[in-house]
Amino acid sequence: MKGIILAGGAGSRLYPLTQVASKQLQPVYDKPMVYYPLTVLIASGIREFCLISTPQDIPRFQQLLGDGKRWGISIEYREQARPEGIAQAFLIAESFIGSDPVTLILGDNLFFGGDAFPRAVADFKSGATIFAYHVNDPERYGVVEFDAEGHVMSLEEKPKVPRGNYAVPGVYLYDNDVVAIARELKPSDRGELEITDVNKEYLRRGTLRVQRLSRGTAWLDAGTSSSLHEASAYVQTIEKRQGVKLGCPEEAALHRKFLSRDQFESVVSAMPECEYSSYLRSVIEQSHWLPQGRPE
Ligand code: TTP
Repeated sequence: MKGIILAGGAGSRLYPLTQVASKQLQPVYDKPMVYYPLTVLIASGIREFCLISTPQDIPRFQQLLGDGKRWGISIEYREQARPEGIAQAFLIAESFIGSDPVTLILGDNLFFGGDAFPRAVADFKSGATIFAYHVNDPERYGVVEFDAEGHVMSLEEKPKVPRGNYAVPGVYLYDNDVVAIARELKPSDRGELEITDVNKEYLRRGTLRVQRLSRGTAWLDAGTSSSLHEASAYVQTIEKRQGVKLGCPEEAALHRKFLSRDQFESVVSAMPECEYSSYLRSVIEQSHWLPQGRPE
């Protein structure tokens, strides 16, 4: 399974912050936003990544994330010249995807808790697996309608009158057909290649799986000033209370054994003295008693 992190877009709702750096480089409490989705996919066992962003921001992501070796992964970069839709990612990353299945995660979607994604990646065979999450404001998202037996009835992008409260969060698993499906898409009325249209095609083929995320998983989207602030407050609250950090790719890579203990130690020793590196040192000290759980 390969991984795409989609981190382009206009970020207009975060103007003027996004004048100098993209949304996914903004801090969510103590780390850049992109660390969180990257950690989710590393914790799910994905090692080969492609990050897509704007031509202006690609060099900044390269400076931050490099080639991924320090987490035992590889990261390639591709440009999206204009924000012409989430599904365009599969066309931009076609050569990266090759003949493999692929997971796409949006660079501004933050997930905490639960093991739905590692399980879904481990269990994935074919078709598409997407998720459904109960929210208060479904009209802002793709909305999935279930019947009484839990079968998917419909999928709609940002409906004015949503059929239920289940929104589709920004993590999608697809088999290799996704590239051909994306090639056939027509831009929507707002001029974008819509991810909901990809999911509708899998629904039409009878190969769409929609998994409901339990309330044990927190899904936050950090696209507006107030949701960005709330996400920071959430991370700070959990980190302060529990003494563990969320969204540390180094820690996830150690747990996934992408990094040996020695490699992890040398990565940490190259960091400056700071709260982040002292936390990671404590991870080494405590790793002998940590259970099998996957950090997120
Ligand atoms: P949005 O939040 O819908 O759009 P945006 O980031 O451009 O923000 P704004 O509405 O404030 O202008 O995008 C969701 C995520 O998908 C976000 O991480 C950006 C990413 N994205 C792309 O990288 N390329 C695209 O073409 C689109 C539509 C989104």
